[in-house]
Formats: sequence, structure tokens, C-alpha cells
Amino acid sequence: MKILVTGGLGFIGSHTCVELAKQNHEVIIVDNLYNSKEEVIDKLKQITGKSFKLYKYDLVEKEKIEEIFESNEIDAVIHFAGYKAVGESVKKPLMYYSNNLQSTINLLEVMQKYDVKKLVFSSSATVYGDPGNPKYVEEMGRGKTTNPYGTTKAMIEQILEDLYASDNSWDISILRYFNPVGAHESGLIGEEPNGIPNNLMPYVMKVAARKLEVLSIFGNDYPTVDGTGVRDFIHVVDLAKGHVCALDKMKKGLNIYNLGSGKGVSVMELVTTFEKVNDIKVNYKIVERRPGDLPEYYADPSKALNELGWKTEKTLEDICRDSWNYEKNNM
Ligand code: WQD
Repeated sequence: MKILVTGGLGFIGSHTCVELAKQNHEVIIVDNLYNSKEEVIDKLKQITGKSFKLYKYDLVEKEKIEEIFESNEIDAVIHFAGYKAVGESVKKPLMYYSNNLQSTINLLEVMQKYDVKKLVFSSSATVYGDPGNPKYVEEMGRGKTTNPYGTTKAMIEQILEDLYASDNSWDISILRYFNPVGAHESGLIGEEPNGIPNNLMPYVMKVAARKLEVLSIFGNDYPTVDGTGVRDFIHVVDLAKGHVCALDKMKKGLNIYNLGSGKGVSVMELVTTFEKVNDIKVNYKIVERRPGDLPEYYADPSKALNELGWKTEKTLEDICRDSWNYEKNNM
């Protein structure tokens, strides 16, 4: 199929383009380069041996999306594009609401106009809010989100549900990610956040690379296995394959899937595994909890296994090895 990947030069988008190409899909990328680099397109060619058409457009400009659909017979869309920094979203809520919502509505309106009604949407476990049970299952539904970034994801899920209710000729897969980490084994593509990383793994990378002095571990007094936060870290290649499965095995209608390993790993477990696998020391200190953090959550990924035939294959050791390999290749 001919697939339009919005945000296709980003961390998860680029890895998904690799997996789409491996399954012989024709991939068209639209990306405004806000949180990605144009050179990634060359890395994608290096990895896959295939070329990718790139539109350096911003989805908030609806006429640009029309141009893409006018010039290409698109069969389906995977929608990654959007601002995604939790901390930034708290400081700049209007920027997040206007960008993430308007760009998505523009995309959906153009898809409707060109009768392209197959969509895979990049959502997040953050939409569950705090359901009180650490093992998240899709039937729990959405809870109270704790930051504007997460709220935009929840709002877009609602928009998609309302769209489907108005026109059930749409086929929509909503994928709720847990904690995407790792990098392609080639070391050519990986996570490259702008500025000081908010998330754990990119911060560990910078400390291991001596680009940042010390990792602050936000609290070790949680009611968890070792007192530090517990999350479901999923290798980005597993996550990318989940998107291809969602596309290739898309059921009729609107379906929601957790994409996670199903295993909770603590911050300390991740740090010590990283040190062991890569034989490197990570300086850290225990500091107070980060406001808004939950003690523990991880996926129940059984629905994706039963309906899409997908589950994670990479281990925590693979995650640590591949992340560090990428960092070393891009020092
Ligand atoms: C993980 C654990 C921290 C940084 C967020 C978003 C979510 C998704 C993934 C986009 C927590 C601890 C972290 C650090 C630390 N993003 N930590 N020191 O908060 O689980 O999820 O990113 O879709 O929507 O909410 O990820 O990596 O920030 O934190 O101790 O410097 O690591 O307390 O327990 P989080 P994270």
C-alpha cells in the first residue's frame, strides 16, 4: 500500500518507515522538522536501500496537505506528527492545543475529502490518567490527563470516536504507547530530543556520554519493587512493527490497542542493566519525586496479540545496548 506517514522523520516515525519499507509498502513522509532532522531521510535510505518521498510541510497549513493528496494515490495514513514534550506542554498549552488539534483536524478533513479512510493514530498510555490499577487494559477508557500534551492525545481519541460514529466507513486503529526507548541496531537512527531530555533513557545516554553530569532519579520512596518509578519500556523497533501490524491487519471500525511489553521495569533496574550491558558507569543521585509522576504502570498487551498477532520481542538488554550504540555513533 501507499502510506502517508506524518512526522515520519521523528523518533518513532522513522523506525516505522523502516518497517513499512521492509514490508514493501510505498512510504511518503510529511514532516515540518520541528523535532527532527532532514538528514534522517538519508539514514532511512542507507538502512532500507529505498527512497522515500519527503514533503517538508506543516500540517497546520491545510492547503499543503491537499497538495500531497492531490499528487499521490494514498491508501492509508499513520499519524505521528505532533508536539510531545510533557514539560513544554505545561508551559505552552495554547501552542500544544492549536498545533496538535488543528493539524489533526486538517489531516482528517483532507482524508475525508479524498476518501482515504484508513488511519493509524499515535496515542499514549498517558490518556489513562490514574486508573488506580498499574496494569492498563483498553477497556479502562480514558481518565483525567495530567498535562496538556496528554490531553491533546485524549481529545484526538475523542475526535476519532466521534468521526467514526458519524461515518462508519472509517477504519481507525488507535495505538497507546507506553515508554518508547531504544534505537535501530544500525545505530543510524534513534532518539534525538531537542535540548535537555525530559525522558529517562535519553537523559541516561547524555550522562553516560559525559554530556550531562548526573542523572537525577526522581524519588526512591514509591511503593514499588525498589522504591523507584516503574514503567513499561518498549523497544522502538517493536513499537514500529506494531504499527505495521495495525495497518496490515486492520479490522473494520475503530479499535484501540496498548503497545507495551506487559512488563514493569523500575528506573533503578533500567540504570543498572544499562551499566552492566554496556560496561559503563552512570552517575546518579536520588532527588525528590517529580510532580505528576505515577508510581507504577505497565501494559496489558494481550488485545494486540490476540487481534494483531503482535507482541514485543526485544529485551531490556537489547534496549540498553541499542540505545548506547546509537549514542556512540552520534557523539
Ligand atoms: C520514566 C520514569 C520518572 C527522567 C512520559 C510521558 C508519556 C510518554 C513517555 C510520549 C519515571 C523517571 C525520568 C529523569 C527519572 N511520552 N525519571 N529521572 O513520565 O513515564 O512518560 O514519556 O508519549 O506520555 O508522560 O517517562 O521517561 O519521563 O519517566 O527518574 O531524569 O523515569 O520519574 O518514573 P514518563 P519518563
